Amino acid sequence: MASTVIENIGLLATPIGTAARAGKAQGEILFLKNAWLTYENGVITGVGEGKAPAADERLDAEGKLVTPGLIDPHTHLIFGGWRQHELAMKLKGVTYLEILAAGGGILSTVKKTRAASLEELADKAEQELRKMLRLGVTTCECKSGYGLATEEEMKMLHAVRLLRKRQPVELVSTFMAAHALPQEYAQDREGYIRLIIDEMLPRAAAEKLAEFCDVFCETGVFTPEECRRILLAAQRLGLAAKCHSDEIDPIGGTEMAGSIGAVSCEHLIRCQKSGIDAMKAGGTVACLLPATSFYLGAAFAPARQMIEAGVPVAFGSDFNPGSCPCGNLPLAMNIGCYRYRMTPEECLTAVTLNAAAAIHRAERLGSLEVGKQADVLIWDAPDLEYIFYRFGDSLAETVVKNGVVVYTQT
Ligand code: NIG
Ligand code: FE
Repeated sequence: MASTVIENIGLLATPIGTAARAGKAQGEILFLKNAWLTYENGVITGVGEGKAPAADERLDAEGKLVTPGLIDPHTHLIFGGWRQHELAMKLKGVTYLEILAAGGGILSTVKKTRAASLEELADKAEQELRKMLRLGVTTCECKSGYGLATEEEMKMLHAVRLLRKRQPVELVSTFMAAHALPQEYAQDREGYIRLIIDEMLPRAAAEKLAEFCDVFCETGVFTPEECRRILLAAQRLGLAAKCHSDEIDPIGGTEMAGSIGAVSCEHLIRCQKSGIDAMKAGGTVACLLPATSFYLGAAFAPARQMIEAGVPVAFGSDFNPGSCPCGNLPLAMNIGCYRYRMTPEECLTAVTLNAAAAIHRAERLGSLEVGKQADVLIWDAPDLEYIFYRFGDSLAETVVKNGVVVYTQT
C-alpha cells in the first residue's frame, strides 16, 4: 500500500501513550505546530514539525487542527422506534424511573426492537453511524439491552456484526441484557438473572458476539448484588465488566464495580467519594455522559473530584432513544467542557485515549503516535480551544479511518 503524508497541519493535538491518562496527565496534550503525519498500511509511521517528508500520496490539512479520530465508548446504537411520545410526560415532570416503572421507557423500546428484523435494526443504526462519522467519530461502542430475551439479544449483537461489514466506523460490542427486567419476568427476577447467566452470556461468549458486559445498577432496576453476580459470570467467560451506576441514585454500583475491577463505570452523576475511591482501586475508567445529564435535566457528575483522585475520565454520547436521543459526541464534548469545567486538553483525552482505554483499545487507538492506527480527524478549526468554543455545528472536515479517507466535508 502507498505511503501517505498529511502535511500543512496548523496544529496537531494528541494525548500520548497506550493506557488511560489520569490526574494531571489527563490534561497533558502534545501540541505540534506546522506539523505533518505519515502513515502506511493504516499505521502511523511518523509525526513531526517542519518540512514534511516525501510520500506517495499527500493530504493537505490547510493549516487546520488535527487530532485523533473521536471514540464514542458508550452508545445504545441498536434499537427499534423512538420515544417522542414520552416528551409530554417529561415536560409535566414525570421522571425517567416513573416512566420505566409504568412499562414505558426502556420497555417500550423493547417492544419495538423485538418487532424489528435484524436487517431493519441494522439499517436504522447505519444511518446514525453515518451521521456520527461525519462528526468525526471513528470508533463506537454499542450495547444490546432492548431484546431482553435470548434470541432478541443475539439479534441485536448480530446487527452490530453485520454493520461492521457495511460502513467504516469500528464497532465494539457490549452485551447488556441486564438493562431492565422484561415484563415476562416481572414476578421472577431470579429467573431472568439465571437466564442471563446460564443461557445468554454463554451464547454471547461462544459466538464471540460481545467483548464487554454492562448492567444497569439502579433503584427499581438491578441491585448491586444482582449486578455483581452477572458481571462475575461475564468475567469468567472472558467478557470485561462495565456498569451503569449512580445515574439516578447512588446505591453502591460503582463501589461494587470497582471492587471487581470493572473496565469502566458509566454515568456517575451521583457518584460518592466511596465510588471514586473504588474506581481508583479497581483501575476503572469513569465514563461520563454529559449530554444525558443535559437531556434529563439532571446534575453533572463530579468530574473534577475524579480527576483529582486520579481516576481517568472518558466521555461518551450515550446515544439511545430515551435519556439521550442524540449521537453527537462533539456536542457532548462541549457540554462536558462547560459543565464539568474541564479544560479542552482534558476533554480531548476524554474522547480519544481514555475512551479507547474504556473499550480496551488504548494500545492501538486514541493517539497520534508511531505504531498506532491511522485514525485521524482534520477539523475546520485553527486550534483546540476553537472546537470547544463553537458549538452546534459540525467542524469535522476530513476523517481518516485505518489509513483511508472515509469522509470529507464538501
Ligand atoms: O444509559 N440508563 C440506562 N440506559 C440508558 C437509557 C436507555 C433508554 O432510556 O432507552 C442510559 O441512559
Ligand atoms: Fe447508557
